[in-house]
Amino acid sequence: MTDDVLVVHGGTPLHGQIRVRGAKNLVSKAMVAALLGDGPSRLFDVPRIRDVEVVRGLLEAHGVKVTDGAIEGELVFDPANVEGATTDEINVHAGSSRIPILLCGPLLHRLGHAFIPDLGGCHIGPRPIDFHMRALREFGAAVEKAPEGLHLTAPDGLRGTKFELPYPSVGATEQVLLTAVLADGVTELRNAAVEPEIIDLICVLQKMGAIIKVHTDRVIEIQGVRRLGGYTHRPMPDRIEAASWAAAALATGGDVEVLGAEQVDMMTFLNVFRSVGGEFEVTDVQPPLAGNPGRQGGIRFWHPGGELRPVAIETDVHPGFMTDWQQPMVVALTQARGLSIMHETVYEQRLGYTDALNKMGATIQVYRDCLGGTPCRFGRRNFKHSAVIAGPSKLHAADLEIPDLRAGFSHLIAALAAEGTSRVYGVDLINRGYEDFEAKLSALGARVERP
Ligand code: EPZ
Repeated sequence: MTDDVLVVHGGTPLHGQIRVRGAKNLVSKAMVAALLGDGPSRLFDVPRIRDVEVVRGLLEAHGVKVTDGAIEGELVFDPANVEGATTDEINVHAGSSRIPILLCGPLLHRLGHAFIPDLGGCHIGPRPIDFHMRALREFGAAVEKAPEGLHLTAPDGLRGTKFELPYPSVGATEQVLLTAVLADGVTELRNAAVEPEIIDLICVLQKMGAIIKVHTDRVIEIQGVRRLGGYTHRPMPDRIEAASWAAAALATGGDVEVLGAEQVDMMTFLNVFRSVGGEFEVTDVQPPLAGNPGRQGGIRFWHPGGELRPVAIETDVHPGFMTDWQQPMVVALTQARGLSIMHETVYEQRLGYTDALNKMGATIQVYRDCLGGTPCRFGRRNFKHSAVIAGPSKLHAADLEIPDLRAGFSHLIAALAAEGTSRVYGVDLINRGYEDFEAKLSALGARVERP
């Protein structure tokens, strides 16, 4: 146990307004894209989270000048002097994020070689990078594995290619996009991921001068261009953070308006939220008028009272129910009357956190079978990837250790919903992806303190 602990006095419904900013899983990729431009790029609404610091450090290590813009949350990237970084400079960031893998294509284009340290990120399954490596080799890269990381070169430059992903991986799709835009010729990517964060990255690249066609049926065609300029971009809001606060409102019987949340990115979540018995209202933007300052729109989520209903959910790639929405939603489902099912089909080991919920009084059983919808890749591979949640359960306080980012936030929600005082250890990990979460908790009336 660490001494990084948050004391949570549970049992108080969350009430109030908080704001989400640019999506972590787009912002970090847009920052990498800035490497490809021959002019400066500006990104607005960048959240102050650890993953952004890591990517900033990596870009700076490679000679990109990163400065804070005039507006709060604005970052400016100047890639005029991109250079190789020393192994030591890069290794400072080893093990802290999975983003470094996405530097491969841009660095090969800019420098002709790249070194990528050992990857980090959440421990939610083996998280291999075989798709990334296969794609890069198809483009003509030579990949050499060393104990300290990967060394890549492109002796004959990078050429467009035809490539089909075995699974619509978000990261591998981004890898292909970031490599294909400056490769020689046309790239056709089949079975691509089409998450809104990917479409937003395509918007960034298009602003830079890329030619990218998104066809139906997960086919993306990229026509390589000779040069790319900088971009100015306001990222899509963080739909994972928005859903996390929504689930917290539901689990604690509260009422939270998430300013900045966008309906269009969250339709699947909103359907489930409504099926469970939660209510929401999309609050539209009100432009400033004479004497009225106007207000930012968002989505207000609340528990209307009475009992919640059980549901069967299957996580999936877009437009399915996101794997990152799963953990907060399971906490809310402990309060539904009856049996709910959660079939996790994106990551094979993303239900381990349910042990902690059971310790707090929840009744959750995990199974190796594919329960609910269609059989998935993990059914025959002996992974406990389906959960049955029996509710409602009265949650009680416990000492909890945070295992990973999303599970960590769900531990926090459980502690807020539980009777009594919990101690949540390792909460600093939540700063990787949730901006100012302690201040937001206080703003919503949660009784939390550092001992
Ligand atoms: C991104 O991870 C997100 N991370 C994850 O969010 C998110 O859960 C995930 O996409 C799915 O939406 C970032 O954007 C930084 P994948 P990524 O490649 O790109 C398998 C969070 O908490 N796979 O789509 O790493 C893989 O093991 C994080 O914000 C291979 O087998 O996910 C998994 O089962 C957690 N080989 C599946 O594909 C590969 O080479 C999907 O992974 C690559 C992936």
